[in-house]
Amino acid sequence: MHKSLSRRLFLQGTTAGVSAALAATSTASLAAGAKEIVQPTPLYGPPPGVAKLNANENPYGPSPAALKAMMEASQKGAYYVYDSVMRLKTMIAERHGLTPEHVTLGSGSSAGLAAAAITAAQTGNILGPDLFWDTTSRVVEIQSIGAIKRLPKLESLAIDLDAMYNAIDDSISMVQVTNPNNPTGMLINPQAMRNFCIKASKKCTVLADEAYNELTDNSDLNTVIPLVKDGHDIIVARTFSKIYGLAGMRVGYLIAQPEKIEQMEKYGLGWYGLNQAGLAAAIACYEDQRFMDYSRAKVLEGREMVSAALKEHGLSALPSVTNFMFVNLGELNAEKFRAEMAKENVLIRGIYRDYTNWSRVSMGHLDDVEKYTAALPKVLHRMS
Ligand SMILES: Cc1ncc(COP(=O)(O)O)c(C=O)c1O
Repeated sequence: MHKSLSRRLFLQGTTAGVSAALAATSTASLAAGAKEIVQPTPLYGPPPGVAKLNANENPYGPSPAALKAMMEASQKGAYYVYDSVMRLKTMIAERHGLTPEHVTLGSGSSAGLAAAAITAAQTGNILGPDLFWDTTSRVVEIQSIGAIKRLPKLESLAIDLDAMYNAIDDSISMVQVTNPNNPTGMLINPQAMRNFCIKASKKCTVLADEAYNELTDNSDLNTVIPLVKDGHDIIVARTFSKIYGLAGMRVGYLIAQPEKIEQMEKYGLGWYGLNQAGLAAAIACYEDQRFMDYSRAKVLEGREMVSAALKEHGLSALPSVTNFMFVNLGELNAEKFRAEMAKENVLIRGIYRDYTNWSRVSMGHLDDVEKYTAALPKVLHRMS
């Protein structure tokens, strides 16, 4: 097609699209009546007035440094990301005394976690506790290439590392520990975790999903990354989606032995899954201790607000070290509770597996947490 003609058609198409969208918005506004102004659903976050507490994001991000870097990087969005990938890999490696070959980046840690699961499925099944963030590992079941074997649930909802170790038989190629765990928010004793990883990695690969590590009181103590440096067959997954407040920018990473990294990179990892703005943001805030301390303080304040409100209404939550809490609703059904909270413009999670009376809430902006605590008595009253 002639260049100027195709450009004209493209512009016409764009204009037509925008007009249609505007027409739809104004029709919706009219239909809603004169009293109510209908807000178009925003593309990039929750609608105004909605407390989005259902995905463990950090709404205080991106940090000012990350925002500035994204702006600059977006202007160079015409170029592929090889150099920025190398820069971030090197920064991460240096921080842990490793080489860039020990690190791979992905579109969120989800990309890495899925690649780890698919790699594991080539030689066996995955072992995990009854409840953990299994969204990515379930890919092996969805693709019918492997299975997730789960330990029985404990009353405390903690992870029983001894039982986990004993359950590693010849059918297991990878054991997965989410630490701190999601949705429980609980942390494993660091020494117990290290001992487990050293022992278990002699039998199979250990995958430690540390998405919430930087939210704990002592991230260096609570990580098993040093065990990778010691040569153990351990994969550690980390992300910029949580404390760094970059969930929408999709940057995460895995740290493992170089040969393991090479194996996993066959399954959708590598520089081609990354974007310039996300990388720029990650590079800019990786060492931004001030922003992380600020975010952690806000999370702590949120947790205190939720704990106090739960206590006031005779409820409790598991001891969380993360930006979310797992609330015991007693007799109440967590899905009905979620639906009732949604009517109050508070978005939280519903039922996990057969944990029918457990409800997860994330710590968002404090005024959103306040919406949760204000809605709580109303919803409890309606459900009683
Ligand atoms: C424990 C855990 N790991 C990994 C992820 C994946 O996050 P992302 O792909 O944004 O890094 C999540 C997301 O909620 C999570 O809770």
